[in-house]
Amino acid sequence: MADGTRTEVVGVLGCGLMGSGIAQVCAQAGYRTIVREVDQAAVDTGLGRIERFLANGVTRGKLTTDERDATMGRLSGTTSFEPFAEADLIIEAIVENIDAKRAVFAAVEEVVGPDTVFCSNTSSVCITELAAATRRPDKFIGLHFFSPVPIMSLVEVIRGLATVDATYQRVFQFAQSLGKQPVTAPDRPGFIVNRLLIPYLLSAIRAYEGGCGTLEDIDTAMTLGCGHPMGPFTLLDFVGLDTTYYIANIMYEEFRDAAYAPPPSLKRMVLAGRLGRKSGHGFYAY
Ligand code: CAA
Repeated sequence: MADGTRTEVVGVLGCGLMGSGIAQVCAQAGYRTIVREVDQAAVDTGLGRIERFLANGVTRGKLTTDERDATMGRLSGTTSFEPFAEADLIIEAIVENIDAKRAVFAAVEEVVGPDTVFCSNTSSVCITELAAATRRPDKFIGLHFFSPVPIMSLVEVIRGLATVDATYQRVFQFAQSLGKQPVTAPDRPGFIVNRLLIPYLLSAIRAYEGGCGTLEDIDTAMTLGCGHPMGPFTLLDFVGLDTTYYIANIMYEEFRDAAYAPPPSLKRMVLAGRLGRKSGHGFYAY
């Protein structure tokens, strides 16, 4: 049971692309990590993704087979909430839907002790609003990772209105213990990265539609001209067009600034199921 000072056991809600990456880095950093998904197939898929990433890391000489085995040994998957009773810190990484997030936090709150810290990996939902739906808004905080989680160094730490200093410091240090570089971001839609990244991605779509160049040429220009690892359309497909559309809408709703308004073509691509890499088709075909 959590005593409010140490973090030994981490609970991760959701084992999709983000949740599995988060669970992996927690286990790699030495924490016993429990990850929950809605059914056994989703647990197996998530743990399988971690296993493949670690195996690939061994092939690349980034970790030893002993480190891989120790990491997998610290990880366990579940479809219930009961094992979270042991967790000192919980990170939610489920779908970007406030009702679904509220529901999992409510379920977890039934089994954990009063000192367990709650974190959300949301990229767009208001932290203060999520925290207010729990009985521990003082121990609730945003902890936003970037994809691919095991590779990207940044995490944003977002205090809600009621988050106390002790929670903030504990989670900031926890992020550092994962080998990540935390930055403190405000509880405003998009935090820091998406506040700047989303208008950039949307303006790339508008530039393309305005005849600025081919998809390939715009991507090449931003890759070679600015040293970005990916051009905007490769990145849009990587992040997911549905995710981008969803975040942009939340930002537009809050700020009422045209820079955040998703272009009509983005909405139509999402409606047609062209979501990027994950659906096999976005701006590019995969
Ligand atoms: N285990 C350990 N290390 C691994 C690994 C593995 N399985 N796979 C890759 N790596 C390491 C590589 O060894 C390499 O490290 P070194 O440079 O130290 O050798 C590094 O990861 C990059 O790997 P690759 O060379 O295979 O891949 P790449 O150079 O093509 O880079 C990428 C891939 C990291 C995804 C890069 O293209 C990139 O940074 N893209 C941009 C990603 C980005 O912007 N993400 C944020 C999206 S926004 C978001 O997530 C938030 C949101 O709310 C929407």
